[in-house]
Amino acid sequence: MRRPFIAGNWKMNKTVDQAVEMVTELKKLVSGVEDVDIAICAPAVNLYPMNEVVADTNIALGAENIYWKESGAYTGELSPAMIKSVGCQYVIIGHSERREIFGENDQLLNLKLKTAFAEDLKPILCIGEKLAEREAGAYFDRVKFQLDAGLSGIEAENVKDMVIAYEPLWAIGTGETATPEQAEEIISFIREKIAKLYDQATAEAIRIQYGGSVKPHNVKEIMAQPNIDGALVGGASLEAESFSKIIKF
Ligand code: 13P
Repeated sequence: MRRPFIAGNWKMNKTVDQAVEMVTELKKLVSGVEDVDIAICAPAVNLYPMNEVVADTNIALGAENIYWKESGAYTGELSPAMIKSVGCQYVIIGHSERREIFGENDQLLNLKLKTAFAEDLKPILCIGEKLAEREAGAYFDRVKFQLDAGLSGIEAENVKDMVIAYEPLWAIGTGETATPEQAEEIISFIREKIAKLYDQATAEAIRIQYGGSVKPHNVKEIMAQPNIDGALVGGASLEAESFSKIIKF
């Protein structure tokens, strides 16, 4: 049985003070939650002070990005070990904003995944199609390509433990959510694809989230779908009140 996993992605939001204030409040609101895994992926500068607040609670931390080298002359980048050292268990890899704005491709993301596994970080690999691909019916091909390239050379034992977030670009920050049926259709396809690439046990173990305008009012019907194991939440994860409602779907 897969445990539900609700994660926030703060993107480029919150100073240290704001981040600490938010998790201090969230910690109180979700202290009784035992049946859902909770994480916040936050800007790197916030992670150390956030960890002071949430260490030994049910709130885990994640980074929003890493580089794929262990150390060296890569000005401005962060290694998996650095992220680990400030208390992170998770790291988002290949968010569509990294792909679209910063030109990250599937080959680079594959390297990042491998480096994350080597440091024992759990990656949340984001995949999903653009509006034009959805309208042309090419969304199955898009995610299939992203999985083939992204997971190339990665072992089943690592895949079992990672997370995939299906985030259609047209639903991110737009207020337009995929319907639960649309999300279930493609997420069950992703699970079948994992079974083909690996085996049935791996496909049944991996957790697959939906992301794109998840809010307190729509999370319940999304989470009711059999193949959807969680949500990756942008805007609604910035406030403790709304994020806690999503966590308690
Ligand atoms: P929104 O929830 O703001 O649409 O963002 C989704 C997202 O990109 C999470 O990674």
